[in-house]
Amino acid sequence: MTDRTYVIDEMISAKAIAARIEALCREIKAEFSDTDKLVVVGLLRGSFVFIADLVRELDLPIEVDFLEASSYGNAMESSREVRILKDLRAAIEGRDVLVVEDIVDTGHTLSHVTRLLQSRNPKRLKSIALLDKPSRREVDFKADWTGFEIPDEFVVGYGIDYAQRNRNLPHIGKVRFTD
Ligand code: PRP
Repeated sequence: MTDRTYVIDEMISAKAIAARIEALCREIKAEFSDTDKLVVVGLLRGSFVFIADLVRELDLPIEVDFLEASSYGNAMESSREVRILKDLRAAIEGRDVLVVEDIVDTGHTLSHVTRLLQSRNPKRLKSIALLDKPSRREVDFKADWTGFEIPDEFVVGYGIDYAQRNRNLPHIGKVRFTD
């Protein structure tokens, strides 16, 4: 837990997120228009809000699965080790898969997870991240679709936490410490 005091300034409104998701889903539907069923994989926990809005905008046959990886400690620093805490329920060999992430920061998490899932021989594997902080990248990785590129600010909301708080904000906010 944190004992720092902070305020949250709105950075990306709920309306802007919804509009961007509509546009992204048009592209995803075009890419997977021939799928018999798309496995949409949310990376826990941060993606739970994004995946919920995304799948309701995607009128394709889908199933939903979740995977939990950990790359951060309790502080703001990212560690390099990526551990799989919860694996998929479904086998994905020969299947269409879309991995859904809230934010790509150093890139370790999503690059590790996509390599892992690729090794299971899916038919097609694509990734989408709502937010991307390219200035923080430590490994060469880019999601196939990105909602918004943002500067190196500490963001919360729409699934993203600060010490497990603020995930339920409907928009993306920027943390400003006041102590
Ligand atoms: C955050 C975020 C991404 C990852 C991005 O997850 O949700 O999964 O870090 O960082 P990276 O690009 O530097 O690897 P976190 O481990 O904080 O877990 P959470 O999703 O449960 O909040």
